[in-house]
Amino acid sequence: MDTNEDVLFQAARRRTFAIISHPDAGKTTLTEKFLLYAGAVQEAGAVKARAGGRASTSDWMALERERGISISSTVLQFPYRDHVFNLLDTPGHKDFSEDTYRVLAAVDAVIMVLDIAKGIEAQTLKLFQVCRSRNLPVLTFFNKYDRPGRDPLELLDEVEQQIGLRPTPATWPVGIPGDFRGVIDRRTNEFIRFTRTARGGSEAPEEIVPTDRAAIEEGSAWNAALEGCSLLDAIGANVDVESFLAGVTTPVFVGSALTNFGVRMLLDAVIDLAPPAVARENLAGEAQPLDKEFSAFVFKIQANMNPRHRDLLAFARVCTGKFERGMDVTCSRTDKVLSTKYATSAFGSDRTIIQDAFPGDIIGLINASGLKIGDTLFSAERVEYPAVPRFAPEVYATARPIESSRVKQFRRGLAQLDEEGVVQVLRDPNVGDSHPILAAVGALQFEVLSHRLEHEFNSPAEISPLSYQAIRVTDEASADRLRQIGGVRILKRGDGALVALFENRYRLQRLEVDEPKLKLEHILADI
Ligand code: G4P
Repeated sequence: MDTNEDVLFQAARRRTFAIISHPDAGKTTLTEKFLLYAGAVQEAGAVKARAGGRASTSDWMALERERGISISSTVLQFPYRDHVFNLLDTPGHKDFSEDTYRVLAAVDAVIMVLDIAKGIEAQTLKLFQVCRSRNLPVLTFFNKYDRPGRDPLELLDEVEQQIGLRPTPATWPVGIPGDFRGVIDRRTNEFIRFTRTARGGSEAPEEIVPTDRAAIEEGSAWNAALEGCSLLDAIGANVDVESFLAGVTTPVFVGSALTNFGVRMLLDAVIDLAPPAVARENLAGEAQPLDKEFSAFVFKIQANMNPRHRDLLAFARVCTGKFERGMDVTCSRTDKVLSTKYATSAFGSDRTIIQDAFPGDIIGLINASGLKIGDTLFSAERVEYPAVPRFAPEVYATARPIESSRVKQFRRGLAQLDEEGVVQVLRDPNVGDSHPILAAVGALQFEVLSHRLEHEFNSPAEISPLSYQAIRVTDEASADRLRQIGGVRILKRGDGALVALFENRYRLQRLEVDEPKLKLEHILADI
């Protein structure tokens, strides 16, 4: 096989996806079970610390543990059925929607996990909408069917009404939540019966039961399941690959990550339904052939992920070609050449040096200072991928160091956390570095900032909320006029863009009507 054939072959084997869910819906458990079924871990429990206190491989920050939320994104790579899975973790809280959005820019499909007892929870609706806005193919998993919950038909309705994705169940449960016997695979009309194993430590035995036997053995549960299936047939809610790939319908799988029910079917669906690494468009909208020379884009930057390492890691998604460790790559924005001697792949907090990578893979570049989110990297022919859009902030605050002797560390910390996108740091061009305004999508981002300033940069800070109501991108000409208006502040973002902050939303609306020539652009509108 020559290199180009090899790249196409490898790209076709890749499945790069993320799991999104409300905290506690079972994302960690499902991830762990994926690793179990793929043979990447021998025993469930390696990803998440269990009651015994085993060190977790994905929680990396004390704050994360204290609050029980996942903040960082980790990349897991594992083989399954002759394919290579790249599973990107996403934060499970709406305050980190922007981080989720960046991760979603790097994947080709998503698994949405819902707790059958809870359905779509208000706090996570935004995350799902973010996902919808990217038109990614979404597989849905109704989890926790081993315990009492809601009618799955009700949940299907919720998915359609609230997210705007048309659900098409691939499997349908036999038995009610809490008394789960197995599923009917609607694509083959087979009944697959599950059997529990102790704590779900090993794979759940699955038995394909002929329908006549199922009718006798499962009695009323079987009849109820058949009724559900004929209702779905009647409304045409059948799995359709084309509309799934277009992000219009979502195949639904029912199961229980804890007891391993339905896990294998979901994993198989990632191979059989989800797309392989897909060609990405460059800035001009031209799809870049997968077998061109190496190119990638940076979607995440993270410093001090592991207190033992104290370094800066830039995560990049390979879009075209073959990456080989040690090759020189150029950053399109700066024209700087970077060494890739220490490129890694990440498995929780364990890092391994990688030798090569193909389209769909994620590479971690260590100490790649000077890189920013959205940067394109290439080895031979120059290419530029579109920037990862920023979200409109919704909350604002000021920050100042509590100890005046630590101003230097405080500034260094703010600059770093701005680069990583933990918060946006806005500065008054006329005042300079002092008294910056921090902007974020959700208030938890300020908590992360405050925690990291104190623990990583040794500079505890006082964060005081501000009550701005709206933000717009503007330009120098409009800024001169806006400065004359009360309740408006003109500030500069880290990427150099000028923004106007408004104390009053209605005043902004008035201005948009009265002075239409002013540049007042939305930031990533309508999410
Ligand atoms: P998250 O990453 O989405 O936040 O959820 P996580 O997997 O940590 O699961 C949250 C809780 O839900 C855990 O219980 C987990 O065991 C439980 N869980 C996950 N999937 C299922 C399922 O299919 N059925 C049932 N019954 N429970 C499930 P916990 O008590 O918080 O923790 P643990 O002591 O079990 O680890």
